[in-house]
Amino acid sequence: MTSTIGITNQKGGVAKSTNTINIAGALADKGYNVLAVDTDPQGYLTNKLGLENKYKADPPSLFDALKEPTEYQIADLVDNHPEFDVLSSNVDMFRIEQELIASGWRPRERLQMLFKTLEGYDYVLVDAPPSLGPINDNVLLACQNIIVPVEADETSILALEHLLNQIETLEKRYEVNISERAVVISNVNYPVDNEQSDMIAWFNDTFEGRCPVFEVRHRAAIKRSLGAGGSIFGENAEDNDMVDVYNQIASELEVTADGR
Ligand SMILES: Nc1ncnc2c1ncn2[C@@H]1O[C@H](COP(=O)(O)OP(=O)(O)O)[C@@H](O)[C@H]1O
Ligand SMILES: [Mg+2]
Repeated sequence: MTSTIGITNQKGGVAKSTNTINIAGALADKGYNVLAVDTDPQGYLTNKLGLENKYKADPPSLFDALKEPTEYQIADLVDNHPEFDVLSSNVDMFRIEQELIASGWRPRERLQMLFKTLEGYDYVLVDAPPSLGPINDNVLLACQNIIVPVEADETSILALEHLLNQIETLEKRYEVNISERAVVISNVNYPVDNEQSDMIAWFNDTFEGRCPVFEVRHRAAIKRSLGAGGSIFGENAEDNDMVDVYNQIASELEVTADGR
């Protein structure tokens, strides 16, 4: 049984990719077989993990697989990273939304179709793009479990409302249930000001009884491990106090894995 989780928020810079890499790292560190999928045309995750060649490579890539999902197998598109497997993004992904809409044929269910070929993974974490368009819809429908990274910033409330509305629309239209598995208040830089501290309280109140809310602080060690091409669970990463937080997030996914 594979758990599939989308890391989604249409805002850019809220640590989607950073959380994807570190949650994948935490789960891999616990001994699970993990695949990280980069659906962002900008390919930050792909490039950070040292797969810039894949990002610029000639077809076939994720782009082709989303165009013709029945023609491709996940296993043929995946690369090995020292911590977990990676399905890279590609510069062609900048064209996928146009292609999906122009084709008109189940444009939001392509990743779901491709995921039918998933084999051997305990967890698949999908890094979503910074937009509420067809790519993100593909991520939501394919995963049906989401982790939402947010910033301790007032603009996050409106962004979150838009995301939750979009989820409701998809749930009705496709008769699926998309579960929030965690909210991760990310890149929090202490000391926080009043607005940030109010926002942290707001997230905790709003999601109480719905899903856990975690807080990941701004850490140079996180930046440095990304610079070195991996998570804070990688072989040469420095010890730091966010290891505990990412382990808790990973444990939460373990606990609720059966609940799908
Ligand atoms: N906890 C953290 N500590 C330090 N830097 C962080 C942390 N979380 C995110 N960042 C940095 O913030 C920037 C935005 O994060 P990123 O994961 O690219 O966001 P998104 O994928 O949502 O656009 C990146 O440069 C990333 O390295
Ligand atoms: Mg990103």
